[in-house]
Amino acid sequence: MATPHSTRSGIIRRMKLTIAVLPGDYIGPEVMDVALPILETAVSRSGHTLQHTRCDVGGAGIDRHGKALPDPTLEACRAADAILFGSVGGPKWERLPPAEQPERAALLPLRRHFRLFANVRPGRLPKPLVDTSPLRPDRIPDGIDMVCIRELTGGLYFGAKSTRPVPADGRPDGDVEAIDTMVYRRSEIERITDVAIATARARRRHLTLVDKANVLETSVLWRKVVAERIETTAPDVTLSTMYVDNAAMQLVLRPGQFDVVLTENMFGDILSDEMAVVCGSLGMLASASLGIENNRHGHRYGLYEPAGGTAPDIAGQDKANPCAQVLSAALMLRHSFGLEAEARAIEAAVEGAIAAGIRTADIAAGGPAVGTRAMGDAILARL
Ligand code: IPM
Ligand code: MG
Repeated sequence: MATPHSTRSGIIRRMKLTIAVLPGDYIGPEVMDVALPILETAVSRSGHTLQHTRCDVGGAGIDRHGKALPDPTLEACRAADAILFGSVGGPKWERLPPAEQPERAALLPLRRHFRLFANVRPGRLPKPLVDTSPLRPDRIPDGIDMVCIRELTGGLYFGAKSTRPVPADGRPDGDVEAIDTMVYRRSEIERITDVAIATARARRRHLTLVDKANVLETSVLWRKVVAERIETTAPDVTLSTMYVDNAAMQLVLRPGQFDVVLTENMFGDILSDEMAVVCGSLGMLASASLGIENNRHGHRYGLYEPAGGTAPDIAGQDKANPCAQVLSAALMLRHSFGLEAEARAIEAAVEGAIAAGIRTADIAAGGPAVGTRAMGDAILARL
């Protein structure tokens, strides 16, 4: 039976969820085609309606509109409550100048445009699924249940960049240098820390700040600001700090020690891949990129994407793991629409299917594997 969302005042409210769907390239559309029916089922069963506009982005945008982020796509994102993103980029567009390539010309501008500063990446490996991890079982006696909170609109990704001849007059026998700059402001660190605190409070209340404070000036500021923020606003949350090299090691030695990891953009990019793979596969890495602003439902505007890439080598072969895309849709229901029960139902269906042994090759641990569509059917059947 339908159970429409009830507000705090007790008034039943049927929501119209307006989303922009940007499948992108290679496996992007394949996994999106699996995620959408699952999303639609979860939404309509609760009495809400889903309205989606499908748009080209990345290489698909370049091929069909001459631009990785075509204007109609940006328009549709503006008109929506949230963006469900696939993945972009691949060998077909690798010869373009770096700044015109899908990742830099579509994904990063979207992050910047919608000020998606908070990237939330859950790493979950429930005990019954520990055999999907490449780690030895004795390293993960209790499974893994952590979240990586990655700052997403600052640091090296968005600092000033240049490539220039040295010396400046560009003598033929001269050298050349390339520069990326890492800049962080107190206010940027404070707002992402607040997201990490809220995340920790809904969990085991333990925050690990990962940095390189023995070398980097930005890390020194992060340490100071995060410690102050916790002290003044969240004394109930415990804070540990860890250098990034150690964190990379701890993630493969004893990943179960982490609850919430908070870190800057570049470190978060690297560590979240590592986290995903110890939790089974990159094909399990869902993510929420949350903005500053709220959507018309009073929840955060956000972009939701599987963060494992376009996997050109297996595209078009019904081999890709659709779980990260499906789990990203669940994150969207949770963060941009407040539909916690529906998000959990999808997450439970994914875990149920995997626990029943229905697995794509990347998480099959050498056992029998199913294809992308069969994986999707198994999830849908459990919803
Ligand atoms: C990610 C991806 C992106 C990033 C790429 C595609 C630009 O690796 O979301 O983790 O580096 O942020
Ligand atoms: Mg990455």
